[in-house]
Amino acid sequence: MRLNTLPRVDLAVTPTPLQPLPHLTKHLNGPKILVKRDDLTGLAFGGNKARKLEYLMGDALQKRADIIVTGAGFHSNWCTQTAAAACKVGLPVILIKSGPRDGYDPESWDGNHLLHRLLGADITILREGSAQRRQEIMEELKAQGRNPYYIPVGGSNAIGSSGYIRCILELLTQSVEQSIRITHLYHATGSGGTQTGLALGAKALSTGINVVGVSTGYGDATRMSQRLLSLSEETAEFLEIDARLTPDDINVLTQYGEGYGYVTEAKMEAIKLCAETEGLIIDPVYTAPAMAALIDNARNGTLTEKDTVVFLHTGGTAALFAYKEALKTYIKGEPFPWKIPEWSPDKE
Ligand SMILES: Cc1ncc(COP(=O)(O)O)c(C=O)c1O
Repeated sequence: MRLNTLPRVDLAVTPTPLQPLPHLTKHLNGPKILVKRDDLTGLAFGGNKARKLEYLMGDALQKRADIIVTGAGFHSNWCTQTAAAACKVGLPVILIKSGPRDGYDPESWDGNHLLHRLLGADITILREGSAQRRQEIMEELKAQGRNPYYIPVGGSNAIGSSGYIRCILELLTQSVEQSIRITHLYHATGSGGTQTGLALGAKALSTGINVVGVSTGYGDATRMSQRLLSLSEETAEFLEIDARLTPDDINVLTQYGEGYGYVTEAKMEAIKLCAETEGLIIDPVYTAPAMAALIDNARNGTLTEKDTVVFLHTGGTAALFAYKEALKTYIKGEPFPWKIPEWSPDKE
């Protein structure tokens, strides 16, 4: 594996802590549960993208890029971390963001959108046709004599996924230090780079860990599995890893999201339970459905007391305050004020 020879810049505070969750474990009365705190990677509000960006920015600098171009949703965590990473390495960044629903005012600067502004990103907001506009922007920059470096959404290509191979190595060292044998690793999955790195790393190192990705609400399981398989193929070739993932190694749960960023009782319960049992704050969009899946699987016996489960906290907590009404009504036991958030492109 040629991980150590890849260009990489130090962006994340690692190793991130691997902490036991004894009260949550006791509450669920099933598997032993620990949390891997990638919300503490230290770039902007932390999160999983910092590990990917270490390799992506390393590659950009090696290729003498003078501007970073990327994009994602209006309130994207990915865009926040990329903009912060670009600041750290001294490069400007263009964010091509798909707009929120009609009627949502893009001039309401809050959440990640506020952070994108704060971090000095050049922002283009589009309602459709982002692939074409992205190409035009890249062409325009090249015509101006610039050397733009394009990163796909979520940093999920072979270079970005390498960050999560590094994470699995880190986790294995910690499991030896803490004398535990991890059976499962639960985490939120979206663009797939995190799961690809974790699952490929877990297989290549013969760990026996069952990596379970929980979809945040978009994509069907078959399509996501195909995407993960092809990304893992690309990553294995890139890193010169002999191991290959097969469909049996890809575990994606799609029933816990309902819709991207939607409010469900299970997500609200997951947030409240982590907070009150462990003082652990998780986010409503990504880590809440992942934790809801873990809780459900502990309750329905899929996970038993023989299992040791690591929950990978991938960050995203900046979004918590946008869900204050939903959390308030959950805590008070009242019906939710809304299911689909204001900013969601799915909202009519
Ligand atoms: C907080 C958080 N967790 C998990 C993910 C999913 O990671 P990936 O895109 O690598 O599947 C994202 C992606 O945006 C995220 O923001």
